Amino acid sequence: MSLSAERRRAHAEVLELLEKRHGIGHKGAGVSAWMEVRLDRALDALCADTGGVLDAAVELLRAEPGRLEEIAERLRVGETRFFRDVPQWDALRATLAARFAGRERVRALSVGCSTGEEGWSLAMVLEEALGRGAAYRVVGMDRSDAAIAAAREGRYAQSQIGQVPRELAERCLTRHGDTVQVAERFAERVSFVARDAMVGPPPGHYEIVLCKNLLIYFGNEAAERAVSLMLKSLAEGGFLMVAKSEVPRVKALGHTAEQLAPGIVVFRA
Ligand SMILES: C[S@@+](CC[C@H](N)C(=O)[O-])C[C@H]1O[C@@H](n2cnc3c(N)ncnc32)[C@H](O)[C@@H]1O
Repeated sequence: MSLSAERRRAHAEVLELLEKRHGIGHKGAGVSAWMEVRLDRALDALCADTGGVLDAAVELLRAEPGRLEEIAERLRVGETRFFRDVPQWDALRATLAARFAGRERVRALSVGCSTGEEGWSLAMVLEEALGRGAAYRVVGMDRSDAAIAAAREGRYAQSQIGQVPRELAERCLTRHGDTVQVAERFAERVSFVARDAMVGPPPGHYEIVLCKNLLIYFGNEAAERAVSLMLKSLAEGGFLMVAKSEVPRVKALGHTAEQLAPGIVVFRA
């Protein structure tokens, strides 16, 4: 995309603001072509309120955090799936029971949970590993209010559950025509909260933190801040799992890696 010098400067300033507040950045992450296009459209929309003056549009973003959030929402990539990256989930299913046996409770967090598939997947494997009566909790958090509202509903199209292992689908999902609903019993164990990864996890300590396919959109400083906050929130023996493609970046930040299972790397505090 070819931009005037003035536009390029405005893009850089907005990305600076976005990275500080919401992590979405350019330093280290690069700015993809689609991101530039969406950012440009968002700036056009803002200019409608500033008489076409670009500098004033950027000032508006500095002054009104809600406006900046709207831009973050426009740049949002919410793609997700149940049991995304099956080998990681196989490793969780194979190791959780032994790893957390005898714990009074197990708390899990899905950071950047989008519409909830990851959080519900976590609940299914925790119930399988620890038993129905076990004291486990799952919290899903995402910056997007719209995503969180969808996550709370727990209702998905049949076409979205292809990767749910059959035995778990039978136990944990109820069919309603073309859709499935996550079983009601999970409601007391699973909650979703609108919260920004730059603020950090909700207070408390977690045995498992999943943060997958979020750091790829973050600039270096934001990625370091988000990862440090998540590692600080780990309980004794807890671990952070990021997407396989994000592992080298977290290693490069100097954090301690551990093999959860052959070929599956996680991080600890
Ligand atoms: C590509 S989705 C990944 C969903 C899921 N973790 C997965 O791997 O399938 C990225 C999610 O991160 C969320 N996100 C982006 N920036 C965030 C931030 N600063 N704090 C919390 N969530 C954020 C987006 O709203 C989006 O839902």
